Amino acid sequence: MATYNIAVVVGSLRKDSFNKKLAKALEKLFPADFSFTQVRIDDLPLYNQDDDGNPSAQVTRLKGEITVAQGVLFVTPEYNRSVPGVLKNAIDHASRPYGKSAWDGKPAAVIGASVGAIGTALAQQHLRNILAYLNVPTLGQPEGFVHAKEGLFDESGNIGEASRKFLQSWVDAYVSWVKTHAGTRA
Ligand code: FNR
Repeated sequence: MATYNIAVVVGSLRKDSFNKKLAKALEKLFPADFSFTQVRIDDLPLYNQDDDGNPSAQVTRLKGEITVAQGVLFVTPEYNRSVPGVLKNAIDHASRPYGKSAWDGKPAAVIGASVGAIGTALAQQHLRNILAYLNVPTLGQPEGFVHAKEGLFDESGNIGEASRKFLQSWVDAYVSWVKTHAGTRA
């Protein structure tokens, strides 16, 4: 049934991460023809250009998961007003060797939850710069700035009542974005 596989990249390694929870809860808002691969980034080595010709098994796995996906969903916290280093490390790995980037042309969306009131807005803006360079068409609107506060999730881990309508509209926009771009690449 699933036609569109989305690689989900979460920028937090924390066990109880709000962003991990957000990613799982968002998946449930997609239609049945979407499936998800949680991309693992916690076991990647630090990027070193010397290794481009001899990538580790973890890097080969990362690039393979991105390559076969029809889209990429980035769900990330904001660290010191930018993207977490672990996320940038993963992006750099899959972008190399030069000319062999796994990201090229993958329709993406960025969203993130933060305990701060601006809901990862600055991290997302930095991420958009990186993705623009990598030729990743990234959903512009609506923007997904999520404030991690009481009630964001219900007891079952679903999006709570107050944010459900907005986040469903956000998912719907990304679904259209993926389908539009999948059509242009067919
Ligand atoms: C943060 N946090 C944070 N929050 C924010 O809104 N803007 C920021 O610039 C930062 N900077 C920052 C740096 C570092 C190193 C840490 C550890 C944390 C707080 C952050 O929003 C909070 O820890 C979230 O819970 C992180 O997301 P996860 O891990 O719950 O997904």
